[in-house]
Amino acid sequence: MSDHNQSNDNNQAQFTQMIERQMSRRKFLATSGALGLGSFLSLNPISSAIANSFESVLLNFENIPASTSDTITLPKGYKSDVLMSWGDPVLAGAPEFAQDGRQDSMAQAGQFGDNTDGMSLFELSAGHAVLAVNNEYTNYEYLFDHGGKKMTADDVKKAQAAHGVTIVELRKTNGAWNVDPQGKFNRRITANTPMLLTGPAAGHEQLKTTADSSGTKVLGTFNNCANGETPWGTYLTCEENFHGYFGSNEKLELDERYARYGVKAVSVEDSRYKWHQFDERFDLAKNPNEPHRHGWVVEIDPKDPSATPLKRTALGRFKHENAALTLDDSGHAVVYLGDDERGEHLYKFVSKGKFIEGDDANNRQLLEFGTLYVARFSMQKDELKGSGEWLELTHGKNGLTVENGFADQAEVMIFARQAATIVGATTMDRPEWVAIHPDNKHVFCTLTNNKNRGNKENQPVGGPNPRADNHYGQIIRWQPKAGDHTSREFNWDVYVLAGNPTVHPNTLYAGSNNITSDNMFNSPDGIGFDKSGRLWIQTDGKYSNQGDFAGMGNNQMLCGDPNTGEIRRFLTGPIACEITGLCFSSDQTTMFVGVQHPGEGGAPSHFPDGGNSKPRSSVMIITREDGGVIGA
Ligand code: FEO
Ligand code: CA
Ligand code: CA
Repeated sequence: MSDHNQSNDNNQAQFTQMIERQMSRRKFLATSGALGLGSFLSLNPISSAIANSFESVLLNFENIPASTSDTITLPKGYKSDVLMSWGDPVLAGAPEFAQDGRQDSMAQAGQFGDNTDGMSLFELSAGHAVLAVNNEYTNYEYLFDHGGKKMTADDVKKAQAAHGVTIVELRKTNGAWNVDPQGKFNRRITANTPMLLTGPAAGHEQLKTTADSSGTKVLGTFNNCANGETPWGTYLTCEENFHGYFGSNEKLELDERYARYGVKAVSVEDSRYKWHQFDERFDLAKNPNEPHRHGWVVEIDPKDPSATPLKRTALGRFKHENAALTLDDSGHAVVYLGDDERGEHLYKFVSKGKFIEGDDANNRQLLEFGTLYVARFSMQKDELKGSGEWLELTHGKNGLTVENGFADQAEVMIFARQAATIVGATTMDRPEWVAIHPDNKHVFCTLTNNKNRGNKENQPVGGPNPRADNHYGQIIRWQPKAGDHTSREFNWDVYVLAGNPTVHPNTLYAGSNNITSDNMFNSPDGIGFDKSGRLWIQTDGKYSNQGDFAGMGNNQMLCGDPNTGEIRRFLTGPIACEITGLCFSSDQTTMFVGVQHPGEGGAPSHFPDGGNSKPRSSVMIITREDGGVIGA
C-alpha cells in the first residue's frame, strides 16, 4: 500500500513513459524480421516490458491463490459485503425473497432481477447515488419450485420480470453503501416495459408486427449483458443472446437473416425459456419480425423513472456485450461495441453531432445519428501486433447494396452481421467487453475464447486471434491513429494471452509471459479501468479446475497494470459463478462487483446466504478495512 497517496497524475505520467518505451521497443522488434513459433511469446511487447523489470506502481496488494471454495476471497486488508441479491425487494410493497420458488410474477417485478451483470453508478451528492444494474437472464432450476418443467402463463411472466434492468438509489450510512428501498428513482425495467425504437431502422417494415404497425413501439429488453454510460448521464444496456427466447410450434423455414443470429423455430420442449408457450410475441410463426426488435443498445435515463427507454438502432443489431463510450477531442461520441459470438466482429459508432456540455437536448440525440464501422485487423502470421482499419457500414458503400441484399440503411443496421461480412471484417474470438484507458488513447478488448478458431474456413489463425482451439482467450488493445477515436486507422497488440503454463509449458497455450502458475485464468470477459489506470479483469470461464483448467479454480477477478503487463489475482468467486459487472464510487474506496449464477446447473453453492439456502446472484461491495483506494 506504499503509493496509497500517490496522485493520478503521477500514474498518468508513468503510463505515458511506459507506452513510449514500449513503442520504441516495438520499433526495435519490428526490425528483427520474421518470427518463428519459439520466439513468438518472448517477443510480445508487453512481455518484453516485464522482462525489463519495470517496477509496478499501480498494484499494491498481494496476488491471492486460486480457490474452489464457496466464498469470495480477497487480498489481506480487503472485505466484501452483499449489497443486494436476486429477489431482494426494490420497489415499495414488494415482498422479501422466498426460498421456495413459489413467488409470482408480481413479486418478481418488484424485486431485484436475476443474474446481475454490467452496472454503472451515478452519484447524486455525497453519500447518495443511483445504481443501474443489468439482470441478464435467469436459471429456471432456482427460479421455480418445478425447475421450469411445469410452466404456467404466470411463470413466463415471472421469468420475463427476472430479466432487464434494476435501478436503485443507494445511501451511504456509517461508512457503508446500502439500497434505499424507498428511493424515488427505484425502477424495474423488464422484458415487458414499453420502449421506443429510434434511429435509422425505426419504423422499417422489418420492425413492424401485428401489435405494432408503427415499427417503433417495442416491449422490453432481455439478456442485458454489459453496459455503458454517457457523459450526459444516461445508462446504456446491451442486448446480447436475444435469440434464445424465440421459438415456434409450427415448422418454419427461416432464412440466413435468422440463422446468422441463431434464431430458430424450436419447439416448447427444446426451448430453454419456453416463453412462446404462453406469449405469442415470441412465437416466430405469429411474429416473425419480433426478433429484429431485439439485439440493440438501449439508452435509459436512470434519474427519471417515467422516461421511456430508447433502443438506438444506429449502433447496429448484434449480440451486444457492452458499449464503451468516449468523446474524441472535437466532441464526437465514439462507442466501441463487441459482438459476442465465435467468429463475429468488433464495431465502432461515431456520432454525427458533438457533445456540448450542459446541452441536454443536443446530447441526447448523439446516439441517434452517426456512422457504424467494423474492424479489420492485419493478419501477419506469428505477429502479436499490427495495424487495422475501420470499415464503414453505410448503404451504398463497400458493397452494401440492393444487389447484395440490403434495401436501405435500416437493413444494414438490422442485419449488421451480414453487412460486416460483406465489407470484409475480421472474424474474432468472441469480442466481450471493451474498456478505454483513462488516457483516452488506448482501448482494450477481451476475446474470451473460441473453439472454432482454426477449425472453420472463415476463422483462420492469426493476427489478434493467434491460437487454434482457443479455450483460454486473450486481451487485445489498440491505439487509434494520432489518438483520434474517429480515425479509420489503428495499431494493435496483445496485452495478455491467457493460458496454463503448468499444463502446457513452452507452447502458445502456456499464455504470454505475464501469465504464471500463480495468476493463471481462462476466458477474460468483463474489463474496466479505474481512474488510476488499473485494468480490472473478470472471468467467465471453465471452473472445473481440471485438465486444461487445472490450478485455475473458480471464476475470479484480476487486476492488470498496463504499464508493465503485470497481472495479479484480486478476488475469487463462489462455486460455479461468473464474476461480471464492476463500477466504483468516485473516490475509488468502494468497488461494486457482480457475482452471477453461483451454483449454476445445480452445483453445490449456497452463496451468499450459506446453510442450505438457494444460491443467489448478488452485487457485492468491496472495500478496504482502512478505507483506502481499491488496489492502491
Ligand atoms: Fe453476457 Fe458475452 O456475456
Ligand atoms: Ca459477459
Ligand atoms: Ca463470457
